[in-house]
Amino acid sequence: MNNFEYHNPTKILFGKNQIENISKEIPNKAKVLLLYGGGSIKKNGIYEQVLNALKGFEVVEFGGIPANPEYAVLIDALKVIKEQKITFLLAVGGGSVIDGTKFLSSAALFKGDTPWDILTDNIRTTKGMPFGTVLTLPATGSEMNSGAVITRKETQEKLAMGGPGLFPQFSVLDPTVIQSIPKRQLANGITDAFTHVLEQYMTYPIDALLQDRISESILQTLIEIAPKVIKNPKDYKAAADFMWSCTMALNGLIQKGVPTDWAVHAIGHELTALYGIDHARTLAVIAPSHYRYNFEAKKEKLAQYAERVWNITEGSVDEKAKQAIVRTEMFFNGLGIDTKLSDYTRDYMGAAQEISRRFTVRGWNGLGEHKNLTPSDVEKIVTMAY
Ligand code: NZQ
Ligand code: ZN
Repeated sequence: MNNFEYHNPTKILFGKNQIENISKEIPNKAKVLLLYGGGSIKKNGIYEQVLNALKGFEVVEFGGIPANPEYAVLIDALKVIKEQKITFLLAVGGGSVIDGTKFLSSAALFKGDTPWDILTDNIRTTKGMPFGTVLTLPATGSEMNSGAVITRKETQEKLAMGGPGLFPQFSVLDPTVIQSIPKRQLANGITDAFTHVLEQYMTYPIDALLQDRISESILQTLIEIAPKVIKNPKDYKAAADFMWSCTMALNGLIQKGVPTDWAVHAIGHELTALYGIDHARTLAVIAPSHYRYNFEAKKEKLAQYAERVWNITEGSVDEKAKQAIVRTEMFFNGLGIDTKLSDYTRDYMGAAQEISRRFTVRGWNGLGEHKNLTPSDVEKIVTMAY
């Protein structure tokens, strides 16, 4: 096992009716900016619950943060923060609203020229404006991590940011919120969380028995609850397991002491930036090709995953590892998620070259757990995913 440090300061309020308790977590006399997305919270009752819980606070609202949070919209929110002298941010939404709020938390205290530099210059945020979240869509883990991904339509870019100053102070995880989530987004959430675990697990053995088994448990739990959640989002037991699995998949715990990959996400973000494909679906497109292309480097972990997660006990290491990739594709397909780029766009020719070109320009010359995947390798992986 590698050396590591672990610190996660986010307080989790998990369960039914926990929204009521947010007032205890927000500093007295705070001036709160309530941030939300396209309006789902106004249809499912979450908005009323949050406003009731915020009685006694001065509250300003900013709605309209789109999926894949858009820089131009966030800059409008930043103006509100400055003009209204906001002191606390409250994100009520999925990964997009939470990530947008993290950007604002950082940008509100940023001293540089333009806040976009935070993303292009990889500026880590050590201190941000304090914020909390009410999660409405289990998927990204953003509610308990310090990362964010921001989109800019003008330049067709989607870039990541983060730093120890960007953990939420608290996050409310009430599993009943999933009742109003469309099936497409439920499937996305399961696929995103599943791939988060794979990114931190599908590397090479490093004698981290516990991290492996926690990862495998999250994968098994997601496989078990997926059909229940899709069939009946009112099934509270399944919803609770779904929500906590998504958080645990990316709150930093399973990556400690082990190598991590993240090439699937790096490439996937480009597919969202270029084609607007949902984040989770880009991962389902890239992951199988990535594992096939890097088969030799990953086959031991693929075979372990085959045995422990999919109960594939027959055959050689190579055979089990190959089957594991097929089973992963079948799992995504079973959720209604297509796994080829051509399933999403007719305009896919040239995607591989463009992504490879972008990575070259950015100097991303060594992706993956061995930091040895070049832009030319990336081009081949994307081509395999056509
Ligand atoms: O905008 P509203 O009207 O709220 O509707 C949203 C949106 O259309 C809807 N929704 C959310 N909760 C709902 C609901 N509809 C009905 N009932 C509810 N309870 O779902 C749609 C998608 O929401 P979004 O927040 O975009 O989804 P998700 O949570 O999947 O977030 C995706 C974003 O997170 C980034 C992705 O790249 C993408 O930009 N990620 C963030 C990560 C992180 N910070 O750690 C890691 C991930 O790998 C990912 O990259
Ligand atoms: Zn993801």
